[in-house]
Amino acid sequence: MDLRLEKLKRRDLRHVLPIEATVFPEPWTVAVFNSELALRHGRLYRAAWDGDQLAGYIGFLILDEEAHITTIATAPRYQRTGVGSTLIIDGIRALLTSGVKHLSLEVAVSNERAIALYYRYGFAPVGVRKNYYERINEDALILWADLPESV
Ligand SMILES: CC(C)(COP(=O)(O)OP(=O)(O)OC[C@H]1O[C@@H](n2cnc3c(N)ncnc32)[C@H](O)[C@@H]1OP(=O)(O)O)[C@@H](O)C(=O)NCCC(=O)NCCS
Repeated sequence: MDLRLEKLKRRDLRHVLPIEATVFPEPWTVAVFNSELALRHGRLYRAAWDGDQLAGYIGFLILDEEAHITTIATAPRYQRTGVGSTLIIDGIRALLTSGVKHLSLEVAVSNERAIALYYRYGFAPVGVRKNYYERINEDALILWADLPESV
C-alpha cells in the first residue's frame, strides 16, 4: 500500500471523527481537535492517506527536547497493515529535525495492541497514572523512549 503522509488539517476532521468514535472509548470531540489543530506552535498532527481514504492519524505535543504522543489511530479496515508504524516513523523523523530527543505517551494498561506497537519502537514503561481513563475506570501506563539520532 502506498500511503501519503501529510499534515492533518481541519478540513480532514470529517474523516477523522468517524474513526475516532469507532476506535476510542473516550473519543476526542471536534472542539478538542479544532483547538489542537489551531495551535501554530508546539503541536505536530499528521495523516496517512490511501488515495482519498484516511487510513490513520497521529498527534504530538512538543516541549523543547521532549514530545508526547497525544493520539494515534488507524481506521479499522487498515489496522495491522503497518499504518501505525508508518505514522510513528514519519512523526519521529519530523521530531528529530526539530531537535526532539525523548518521546512519551500514556496508554491504557489493557490496550495490548498499542503497547505491542510502542514496545516495537523502543518505548519502555516508566510509571502508572491511576484511573487516568476515568470513563472506563482504567489506569494508564506511562511509556518513554529516547529517540535514536536518525530513523
Ligand atoms: C494501536 C493502533 C494505532 C496500531 O495501529 P496499526 O496500524 O494496526 O499498527 P501496525 O499495523 O503498524 O502494527 C505494528 C505492530 O504493532 C503490534 N500490533 C498492532 N496491532 C496488533 C494487534 N491487534 N495485536 C497484537 N499486536 C499488534 C504488532 O507488533 C504489529 O506488528 P506486526 O503486524 O508485524 O506483528 C491501532 O490498533 C488502533 O488504532 N487502535 C485503536 C486506537 C488506540 O488504541 N490508539 C492508541 C492509544 S494510546
